[in-house]
Parts: sequence; C-alpha cells; structure tokens
Amino acid sequence: MNKPKRYLVTSALPYANGPIHIGHLAGVYVPADIYVRYLRSKGEDVVFIGGSDEHGVPITIKARKEGVKPQDIVDKYHSIIKKSFEDFGISFDIYSRTTSKIHYKTASDFFKKLYDNNKFIEKTSEQYYDEEAHQFLADRYIVGDCPHCGNGGAYGDQCEKCGSTLSPMELKNPHSAISGSKPTLRETSHWYLPLNEYENFLKEWILENHKEWKANVYGQCKSWLDLGLQPRAVSRDLDWGVPIPVEGAQGKVLYVWFDAPIGYISNTIELLPNDWEKYWKDEDSKLVHFIGKDNIVFHCIVFPSMLKAHGEYILPDNVPANEFLNLEGDKLSTSRNWAVWLHEYLEEFQGKEDVLRYVLCANAPETKDNDFTWKDFQTRNNSELVAVLGNFVNRALVLTAKYFDNKVPEIKTKTDYDNEVISEIPKIKQSIEESLATYRFREALKETMSLARLGNKYLADTEPWKLAATDMERVSTILAISLQICANITIAIEPFMPFTAQKLRKMLNI
Ligand code: MF3
Ligand code: ZN
Repeated sequence: MNKPKRYLVTSALPYANGPIHIGHLAGVYVPADIYVRYLRSKGEDVVFIGGSDEHGVPITIKARKEGVKPQDIVDKYHSIIKKSFEDFGISFDIYSRTTSKIHYKTASDFFKKLYDNNKFIEKTSEQYYDEEAHQFLADRYIVGDCPHCGNGGAYGDQCEKCGSTLSPMELKNPHSAISGSKPTLRETSHWYLPLNEYENFLKEWILENHKEWKANVYGQCKSWLDLGLQPRAVSRDLDWGVPIPVEGAQGKVLYVWFDAPIGYISNTIELLPNDWEKYWKDEDSKLVHFIGKDNIVFHCIVFPSMLKAHGEYILPDNVPANEFLNLEGDKLSTSRNWAVWLHEYLEEFQGKEDVLRYVLCANAPETKDNDFTWKDFQTRNNSELVAVLGNFVNRALVLTAKYFDNKVPEIKTKTDYDNEVISEIPKIKQSIEESLATYRFREALKETMSLARLGNKYLADTEPWKLAATDMERVSTILAISLQICANITIAIEPFMPFTAQKLRKMLNI
C-alpha cells in the first residue's frame, strides 16, 4: 500500500480464563508493542487495541467447576491480565473487554447487518443434547474417546493429546462434560457464514496480492484455500455470549470466534467514539493484526470474510503471526501448569521487566517454534545486556564523570576512524527501521545491540583512559562521540526495552 496516513494495530484478545504467560508475551504482545512504540517514535498516527476475550465454552466450564458465574471468572482474570500487561509496559491505547455494553451492541449490529443482507445460510442439524442439564452440548461440553489416538478425554472440537481437530460426532463413547450423562441427538438450527463463497476473493487477496506475508502465515492460508472452505456456524446453543438479535433465536448466542474479533472494532469505538471510523474504514489506514499461529485461520480467512460481507471495513494489510514458544523443551500448558506466569516472574525478578522483554524478543518464535530456557535467559542477561549494553553505557558515563565532571565534552578534531564510527550510526538506524517495518523484530534487536557493540569496540580501540595523561583533546572527542552513541541507543532501544530507555534518558539527562 501507499504510505499510510494512520495505523490500526491489534493484538489477539486473550481468553479471560487464566493468567498470561511468557508464550503469550513472546508470540503476540512484545512484538506488537515494539511495532507500535516504533511507529509512535516516528510520530505516526497509531492506535493500539487490546482487550480480553470473555466468551466461549471453557469459561463457562470453569465457572461451573468453581461454582461461580462466568462473569466472576472473567472479572477475575481480566484484571490479572490487564495488570500484567501494564507491568510489562505493553502500551495499549485501550485494554477493554468483550463483555462491555458497547461490544454487545457492536457485535449484535454486525450480525444483524449480515443477517439482513442475506449473508448467512440457516441450517438445521442434529446435535448432542444433555437431557439432565436440559441443554445442547457445544464443542467442549462433549467429551469422549479420540477416534485417532484413543485418548479418553478428547473434546468435541479437538483432541489435546494428538492434536487432531474433531467434530462431536466423531467421538467414541460421548458423554456430557456437565452431567456426565450419555447425550441424545436433537435438532437445532444455526446460521452459517458460507466461506466457500469467499474463496475467490480470499485467493486473490492473499495468494496473489499478499505474497509478502510471512511464509508461515501465507503457507497456512494457502493450504486452507487449497483444501476448499466450508460454511462455518456463527451461532451456538449457549447462555453465555452475545445473544443472536433475531426473532426466535432464544437460547442462542454468537459463536465466540464471531464476536471476539469484532471486539477490535468495539474497543476502538470505546477509545475514540467520534473518530474510530477513519481507522476502520479509510483506505489510507493500515490495519495489522498481531497473533499466534493457532489464530491464523480466524484472522486471515474468517474475519476478513466477515468484514468483506459487511462491506464497510478495510482488510488487514498484514498478519505477522508467530509460531509457539516452548518452555525447557516442553509445550507451554495452562492446564498442566507448565508455564512462567507473568505475575510470578515479577515476584522473583522485581524490576527486571525489560530483561524478559529482551530475552523473549531475542529468541522470539518468528519463523519456527522456539524454546525458552532459564540457561539462555541467564546467558543473554550476562553476556549481552550486562557485558555489551551495560558495559558500554557504564564506561562512557563513568569516564565522563571522571574526566569532565559529568558534563558532555566537545568534539575537537576528528580522525578518520572517528568519522567511520560516526557514519555507522545512520546505517544501523536504517537497518533497524527496515527490520521493524517488515516485522523482523529479532533482527531489529540485534541491530540495536550492534550500536552498543560499536561503542564498546570504539572505546577498546581508542583507550581514552590511557590518553588522559597526555592528550585531553582526544579524550574529549572520544567521550563526546561515545555519549552520542549512548543517546542514539536510548532512542533505538525504547521499543524493545522501554523501562531501560527511560533510565538511560535520565542518566544522560535528555
Ligand atoms: N482468545 C483467542 C485466543 O486466545 C484469541 C481471540 S483474537 C480475536 O486464542 F480476534 F478473536 F479477538
Ligand atoms: Zn487423539
């Protein structure tokens, strides 16, 4: 696209049924925050939208287990999650939730518009029904044996053991997760978005016009499109969610994956009640979705089809999805409690938010799944943050204090080598920017650190501490240039390590 007039950046709305961990941060929120902070530093017009995804069956199951209401569950985790994001400096312009009034209205109106314009098909089918609990059993409410691996605890939509996607009818020995009883089959009707009708549009839009998307994203889209798309139900028989705004739809709500992405729109409206439309409807706006790889189909296929069906909205310009982060060689898992929870990290490492941001970006699962290990965390802290960044800034400042009473000295006469070092700075700046603009955040961070490496090498080569006795003019120039490098570091590093950048600005008094 041409140079955008404004940016609309979203990051996946996390389910409010548990706290968030390092995998969420590494895959979605750190990269999104880096991108947004970078744009802001250039003075771009950008809004950064976040929020909690508060519908869906797992939330209702958790509530039932704990004997509370779904609203109690989401209230609890929404505030824990929101606080974790604040603690780690994820700089949302708004962090709202899909149980807000404005979201119910926005999602409901969205459905109604598609409904009125005949964008859905209505189909009746047989679904499992719990005679004891008197309700239909959506997705995860139905449990049974996996037809592929025999796992006895497979859900109606997925077997978590072997990873296959399932439909409830495929489960052997199905039983209700609510009452444990054997379900019966009953007829129910639902609205479907006929994705097959959007295939040509999607093929052209993605496969032809967005060849620049990340290979993992493009590849997943291509394989979905090659297999052919089916109509997808957008409603569920459930009492937790946005009610379907149609006569005779009592007891039915919007499927969580229909309402949640509309949350991006609702939250923008909440943030900018009078101004939101230009971000969502003006062709000069650039929309970017930050997500994890399990969300690709919803953000690249389903939501764009919804937006297209609606007709008034722009489509995402890019969806830079990441792969997954593992922990010490094992898959992160909320249910197995195998994770580093953000609120727990902060109990152990007070004030070390940026260390985690740094490590998660340096080792981000940008192109393949990656592993987080404490050993790597330690090494990167000691041999990169301390030995490279800390060491350089410390030496530049300590020497300035010692020889120039903490005042920035002057550049006197420059040598060829000085000029060479100075000319590296804009080159590094340019390559950082190129990497950031193309969502290569690990590379951008590496380039940023190369500023500190440049500074270290410069000090090691010129050894100003040895010149102090004989050539103060030279010392003056060397430290002035070193401080310029420090000042540039504070700018370059801000998107990655905002707390550190602020500390540095204070030390340098800028
Ligand atoms: N809650 C979903 C997840 O954690 C993500 C929802 S993204 C949205 O996988 F677009 F639907 F909001
Ligand atoms: Zn299985």
